[in-house]
Amino acid sequence: MVNDVAHATTHDARWAWLRAHTPVLRDTVYMNCGWQGPLSEDVAHAMHEWIDSELTLGPTSRPLLDARIALGARYRERAAALLGADADEIAITDNTTHGLNFVTAGLPIAPGDGVVTTGVEHPSGIVPAYYLRERRGATLHIVPLGADDSPGAIIERFAAVCDARTRLVIISGVSFSTGQRLPLAEIVALAHRASPQARVLVDGAQTAGHEPLDVHASGVDAYAIPMHKWLCGPGGLGALYVRHDRIAELEPAAVSGHAAASYDFNGNFTPERDSIQKFELTTVSGPLLAGGVTAIDQYLASGPLAVWDRVRALTALAGERFARIPGVTVTSAQGDSTRSGLFAFQAGDLDAQLLAAHLQFAARAVCRSVREFNAVRLSLHVYNTPDEIEAVAKAVEAALTHGIAPEAAAFVPNFARAVKET
Ligand SMILES: Cc1ncc(COP(=O)(O)O)c(C=O)c1O
Repeated sequence: MVNDVAHATTHDARWAWLRAHTPVLRDTVYMNCGWQGPLSEDVAHAMHEWIDSELTLGPTSRPLLDARIALGARYRERAAALLGADADEIAITDNTTHGLNFVTAGLPIAPGDGVVTTGVEHPSGIVPAYYLRERRGATLHIVPLGADDSPGAIIERFAAVCDARTRLVIISGVSFSTGQRLPLAEIVALAHRASPQARVLVDGAQTAGHEPLDVHASGVDAYAIPMHKWLCGPGGLGALYVRHDRIAELEPAAVSGHAAASYDFNGNFTPERDSIQKFELTTVSGPLLAGGVTAIDQYLASGPLAVWDRVRALTALAGERFARIPGVTVTSAQGDSTRSGLFAFQAGDLDAQLLAAHLQFAARAVCRSVREFNAVRLSLHVYNTPDEIEAVAKAVEAALTHGIAPEAAAFVPNFARAVKET
């Protein structure tokens, strides 16, 4: 079935195909792939098939063991194709945060080394940066960024803090809160020029499956991604890219047999340095890998550039529509060179968490709020439509006029806690 999406001859036919084969979209205006994307029938089918094989053949029967090893290799190869990397630069992880931590924990950072990050990072980026200050005595620089900043202004701010002491730069490819795309290749070049020791680690939670990626072309040192957001794959699976020549310098923080080049029981041991699989521990779920491979194939068959053009066109449309609602302020990036498929807005003094809940109650629209800006964030993916944007805009207008429906409260169970976690 994956091939069907590749065979759709126009982009519009592809988006329609994806829409028709992603069941949740039949009844729900799903605008939250920046948190977790919806599974298509193909992805779910690949996962079911693997579970069925385990049920009937047994997980360690010879055919399934062979297939499982081949599946792991295939996953690395597909993740590499997605990232513009080689398969032996890819480690299988649980999620983005897992990959980010491999790098922040594994790089030998000494007291006084510079760690640079930004003011629009997710907790998964800023908290590891703070831990490098707490545990290793690093000097932390937090570059302030605003949604309206041009790429030139962003680069100038990085230039002001990167110097010969810079050891690590941790940045999002696309910010979860402002939706702005950072000029990655330029930041990498700048950091590497400032210090031969500087490494750039990208939080790609909001880029994989969203914007076309080419880690080799950008020169970035490490890049962590999930399967479960814009790629619409299963939760619990991710990938970490580390540039060939940077693998040996990273110490694996948690170790298993994969981190040993050789050992015996007489005290002889040689650590594994050069293989990226030193980061991987033991069992990886076959159903998750099967779903991940299918999700990547589905995205690549859709055409990464076409996906990027489509989601940015939807954001532009949302920008025009929401700008016409009195009391609404768009808080996400609107510039042509920084805009992404993440669209965020404030609506008067309405509480954003409650408004997001209201949208689910009143318009069956699933989205989230961004506490930092009291903003509602819509993740606009290729399967979303102008009609859906219109429906959400109307529901916001109604909330501004009549207030938030009391019933909306039922849609905020444990919401504050859930938002903090993701
Ligand atoms: C920018 C960013 N980084 C990291 C994360 C956490 O991602 P994961 O669950 O893959 O660790 C998120 C989740 O929303 C995010 O938006």
